Amino acid sequence: MTSAKLQQASAEILKRYPQNQKRSALLPLLFLAQEERGYLSPESLEEIAHLLEMRPTDVWETASFYTMFHFRPMGRCHIEVCHNLSCTLLGAESLLDVLKGRLQIREGETTPDGRFSLGTAECLAACDGAPVVQVNGYHYGPLNRSQLEELLEGFARGELPERYRYQPWAGPPSRGPEPVNTFERILHQHLLDPSYDGRIEAYLERGGYQALPKAVREYRPSEIIEMVKRSGLRGRGGAGFPTGVKWGFVPKDPGIPKYLLCNADEGEPGTFKDRELLERDPHQVLEGIIIASYAIGSETSYIYLRGEFLEAVAILERALQEAYAHGFLGKKILGSDFNLDVYLHRGAGAYICGEETALIESLEGKRGEPRIRPPFPAVKGLYQCPTVVNNVETLCNIPHIIVRGPKWFASMGTPKSTGTRVFSVSGHVRRPGNYELPLNATLRQLIYEHAGGILDDRRIKAIIPGGSSAPTLTADHLDVGLDFESLAAAGSMGGSGAVIVLDETTCMVKVGEVINRFYHHESCGQCTQCREGTAWLHKILKRIEDGRGQMADLEVLKDVCRNMKGQTICVLSDSAAMPTESYMHYFREEFEAHIQQGRCPFRA
Ligand SMILES: Cc1cc2nc3c(=O)[nH]c(=O)nc-3n(C[C@H](O)[C@H](O)[C@H](O)COP(=O)(O)O)c2cc1C
Ligand code: SF4
Repeated sequence: MTSAKLQQASAEILKRYPQNQKRSALLPLLFLAQEERGYLSPESLEEIAHLLEMRPTDVWETASFYTMFHFRPMGRCHIEVCHNLSCTLLGAESLLDVLKGRLQIREGETTPDGRFSLGTAECLAACDGAPVVQVNGYHYGPLNRSQLEELLEGFARGELPERYRYQPWAGPPSRGPEPVNTFERILHQHLLDPSYDGRIEAYLERGGYQALPKAVREYRPSEIIEMVKRSGLRGRGGAGFPTGVKWGFVPKDPGIPKYLLCNADEGEPGTFKDRELLERDPHQVLEGIIIASYAIGSETSYIYLRGEFLEAVAILERALQEAYAHGFLGKKILGSDFNLDVYLHRGAGAYICGEETALIESLEGKRGEPRIRPPFPAVKGLYQCPTVVNNVETLCNIPHIIVRGPKWFASMGTPKSTGTRVFSVSGHVRRPGNYELPLNATLRQLIYEHAGGILDDRRIKAIIPGGSSAPTLTADHLDVGLDFESLAAAGSMGGSGAVIVLDETTCMVKVGEVINRFYHHESCGQCTQCREGTAWLHKILKRIEDGRGQMADLEVLKDVCRNMKGQTICVLSDSAAMPTESYMHYFREEFEAHIQQGRCPFRA
């Protein structure tokens, strides 16, 4: 990119951030420079440093934190195979073998003619399309070996074929009889209509943007917060914290800027619901953001979007333009005194940036390293100002609470886990996908009535009920409720709402190896327990899986897990240790069999 071009683009980009926060423009500028040349050259880094008045070493140090930035030319066709849990369960390793064989390169390499480079990716939030392959940012799946070979021929001709492109609403080809009760959507009912295109007219036709005028004309911000408290809504991002209570922590002082950040970084393995909400119903997300901003007194809001969600960028940009054109964003919204600007900010491939304080650091143009709390973001968050971070799905609930009332919302689910939740179901089920159910539904209902039961009628071995960070449950837990309390009482957690189902053919040592490879890769490295602990868990589990383990390893694993919990800046460390402990608790005999037989008993 020529200097003039970058300079021109940077002037536009800088308008999204406060004047004294130029560094926030770092990630967008790095993306621009990379798009132009295919990689980040030392000259581009210097140029960006100059534009943002930063030291080149700081630009380099930050850029190198994010996996989406490349510092050497990649193949013109850059292929990455997702090797996280749901994709591994459905054959990702075999796809990687096909590519290695056909391209004659290993992971991290480029073909001598510069046409192809090969890599692996962590969960791409497309698990109902598993196994998934990412090619120049676009997602393909579900794929088998011959479909991949067919695609490869297209790539070789320089095409990015539409065939086999992953679409969040399409679902995989039916793998068995249709389930009795496919969907039960309550808040997201219009997504059942295949003709719904998510444009503003379609949203308005289905009752969209009715909550916003009601909120700004009929209620004071404090009354909105009270309504959300009464609804009992709890965050859908992972921790399940009561949303209204969180909003209530924001100081009322009108002199300080406040920020509402929509967490659209969706990275928890197994989770792909936010992606569907963003791509299919962007205005519902925006309406939630606008009302939440009104409630906490924010005049600037950012959607921190996962870097890999290329389709969502275009969809959200168009939705933002439509919302401004209709007077739902901008100055004096719907004739009130309320002003709000919403901007899109793309992450760049770091799972940890979904953690709210890491997200804030990243938005400030830094490495996504979680902050020590207190102070909590509600008091000192983005640019040291009061900030609320809310998940996409959490925000989607807000318009419904305003229009239909907190009592209606609280009448669904259980007394402590009210409303509905969108569950992302993947793994060995016949019909993986997103299912919205009231929170008093059970795992059995979700898996058998909605996701169609288990592939080939096999038996369930394990159910991971809240994303890969959640301790596993077993077939004995099928009647456990999906609410936060029931899952906690059963020894696990609701987490991100991702339910990964593993059948009797699954090797739990392999599952442990895969998830710990992920956590080790994603640890930001600030805390010794996490940085070293995740490395050791992965190393030992790989050793056992490869048939080189010893009985003493099992005690070491337990000891490492014990030392990783409750001691670190954020809970990524616990997220690796807790599931590992649960695999050893329920399936210890499998670990022992690997060691005794000197091989994985599940491999042919
Ligand atoms: C390692 C880690 C990753 C996380 N990733 C996400 C994420 O991708 N999306 C999300 O909404 N929350 C994620 N969270 C939770 C956020 O820190 C935060 O609790 C959430 O965005 C708050 O929104 P809510 O109250 O609406 O749930 C993550 C937390 C941790 C510890
Ligand atoms: S627990 Fe891990 S990811 Fe979280 S701050 Fe510490 S090192 Fe970073």
